[in-house]
Amino acid sequence: MRLESGRVERCFRAHKNKRFTIVCVEIRMAWMWKRKSLIATSLIVAVSIFVVVVNYSEKPYFLLQPVFGQTFSNRWMFSKQPYKAFKPHPGYVSVPKQEPLKLHCELCSIVSSSGQMLGQAAGPKIDRSPCIWRMNNAPTRGFENDVGRRTTLRVVSHTSVPLLLQKPQHFFGQGNDTVYVVWGPLRNMRKDGKGIVYNMLRQAVDNYPHARIYITTEDRMNYCDMVFKKETGKDRIQSGSYLSTGWFTLILAMDMCKEIHIYGMINDTYCKTEGNKKVPYHYYEAGSRDECEEYLLHESAPYGGHRFITEKSVFTKWAKTHAIKFFNPSWHKL
Ligand SMILES: *[C@@H]1O[C@H](CO)[C@@H](O)[C@H](O)[C@H]1NC(C)=O
Ligand SMILES: *[C@@H]1O[C@H](CO)[C@@H](O)[C@H](O)[C@H]1NC(C)=O
Repeated sequence: MRLESGRVERCFRAHKNKRFTIVCVEIRMAWMWKRKSLIATSLIVAVSIFVVVVNYSEKPYFLLQPVFGQTFSNRWMFSKQPYKAFKPHPGYVSVPKQEPLKLHCELCSIVSSSGQMLGQAAGPKIDRSPCIWRMNNAPTRGFENDVGRRTTLRVVSHTSVPLLLQKPQHFFGQGNDTVYVVWGPLRNMRKDGKGIVYNMLRQAVDNYPHARIYITTEDRMNYCDMVFKKETGKDRIQSGSYLSTGWFTLILAMDMCKEIHIYGMINDTYCKTEGNKKVPYHYYEAGSRDECEEYLLHESAPYGGHRFITEKSVFTKWAKTHAIKFFNPSWHKL
């Protein structure tokens, strides 16, 4: 996943050098949000064309004809790399430098950790999307045909950080360009030496300097709580619940991804539907509690539960105004 500002910047540099000939075209599209929960009302297309004298050293020439329509072949628009960097997001900052996360993707496939993934053979389709997001320590090895191989970003709960650190070379080792976005309460994430999870991440970056680890800021955590209250009318803390990693993932994805495909997530009525499939809560924990049992237990836990089912009903609502599609099982838009 490309976090740098990309080709246009390189063209600028090339222009200064005046050594190569190149035509760079960049179309920048951004959906503008009119109101928080309304989808984009306008599309900004900014086109800049630079003609310069150049050659390109690291890669073969890339020449784009300044003819719109023809220029942006499928290969370019839907290349494996996200085609442009997006404006920095202040809600997620790197460890330890606190630089904001810069990320934009045309299509993010979010792979849930649910047992619904098993036996669906969605792996090849998932691997064809430009960006693939996973959660916590959900493995790919041994499950490639169902969940795919590639991982561009992981959203990780503070409680799962120790699980990643059991295999630090695998997750953070050199050659791994996965971006990690960790969420957690301030008490664990504080940077003054008292945040136990922050300290672990700091240590990981010391040991693996190439690791790209970001944490969710305190403001952003509060924002995610606020969204829960706005959508459900319930105060997250007073109602004794924790937001799930899925919640944080979807809020991040709605800011970073133009289109979102979610794999393996059930809807809010699934567990009440006759004949629903019994699957393990996590695809990588065979024999663990059934998904629906786990969901129902959490939904009614007086304290410390995730409101998975409530969250799903909010996702249903978001899917009406955002480009979100659900696969395996698929959801109908109401
Ligand atoms: C990078 O980490 C992911 C886990 O997020 C793992 O599946 C993948 O194999 C690793 N890649 C490399 C090149 O080590
Ligand atoms: C929710 O899932 C159930 C079970 O798969 C299905 O019968 C129902 O149509 C789904 N509802 C929506 C809105 O997708």
